[in-house]
Amino acid sequence: MAPTVNPDKLLSNAMQIVERANDVIANEQTLRTLPAESQKVILKNSISPLPLHKTLVLLEQIQTLADSSCLNHLLLALASSVITSVSNLKFRPEVCVSKKLKDDAAVVEAWFSVVNVMAEDLRKLQICHSTPAIVQNADSRNISTSLMANSLDAVITSPPYPNEKDYTRTTRLESVLLGFIQSKAELRLLKEGLIRSNTRNVFKVDTDDIWVSKHLEIQQIANEIEKRRIELGKTSGFERLYHRTVKLYFGGMAKHLADLRYILRPGAQLAYIVGDQKSFLQVMIRTGSILADIAQGLGYEVVGIDLFRTRLSTTTKEQMREEVVLLRWSGKMPLNSYPFSDKVL
Ligand SMILES: C[S@@+](CC[C@H](N)C(=O)[O-])C[C@H]1O[C@@H](n2cnc3c(N)ncnc32)[C@H](O)[C@@H]1O
Repeated sequence: MAPTVNPDKLLSNAMQIVERANDVIANEQTLRTLPAESQKVILKNSISPLPLHKTLVLLEQIQTLADSSCLNHLLLALASSVITSVSNLKFRPEVCVSKKLKDDAAVVEAWFSVVNVMAEDLRKLQICHSTPAIVQNADSRNISTSLMANSLDAVITSPPYPNEKDYTRTTRLESVLLGFIQSKAELRLLKEGLIRSNTRNVFKVDTDDIWVSKHLEIQQIANEIEKRRIELGKTSGFERLYHRTVKLYFGGMAKHLADLRYILRPGAQLAYIVGDQKSFLQVMIRTGSILADIAQGLGYEVVGIDLFRTRLSTTTKEQMREEVVLLRWSGKMPLNSYPFSDKVL
């Protein structure tokens, strides 16, 4: 559980760090850089040399001078300010590197202004301090290993879609700067803990597809994608993985929904926001309706599928549906608890 952070203490601690970081920046002649292994993991040119140097000085001062109750907040502020004000990254909406690279950036000032916003928010939220929040770093496909049985009344989530988006790219720079990923091997470990939703996080040893091996619609979609790939003569390694990615995606979601049943209290309500997709050779994947079908087979009641919004597809110029799949857990396990798998699980 996160300790209560005092906003005044956060600000005074940050001011101390600003002073010290500015001193070091003013007096150091040689630019600091990331270790070679870490450098290979970030997107090329995602941060210019001088802004990176200043960021590494600031990071060191945060790690040295932060009070233990403020450390995580101050690091989070750095993750935010680096992406929005210091890096060369743009979100359109996918992450990319801007053509105009920054020679310099007001690294310390940008960080301090985020800390100020944070302190303001903390003041407003003081009223909620009696409401605990716990953050778990875990894989939702094995949710019963991190949450207690029969303990949840509600789930609201925006899981990945089968959309060829590598979620680890979006947060790559801050993940590397804060030391969560320091090499390609660690990046792979992170990817292994995610639902397979894009060909960049599919591995030879993956087996989540067994969870939907008897789900007709998913098998038909995967076959259609593979048939279209062959017809179009697409032979790259990634294109060859498209059909498998779809099966692994829905298999992973089925595994999550199956495991979650042990954690939910009877009557628990669930909302999953997902979007229809045509990312794999334009074969339509009605994500919401397929997830609802999987959930129903696993014993959930489908309360409804609401339209959340429509999004314009950049490739097909079609309006694609984004939906909220609403479910309810009755508490009754179906006779066949894994109805879409032909393996004994
Ligand atoms: C559609 S995004 C939602 C992002 C979130 N709503 C936000 O605004 O930051 C899906 C998220 O699910 C995470 N994810 C993927 N597989 C996961 C897993 N097995 N367990 C937990 N989270 C996972 C991804 O890293 C990504 O951040």
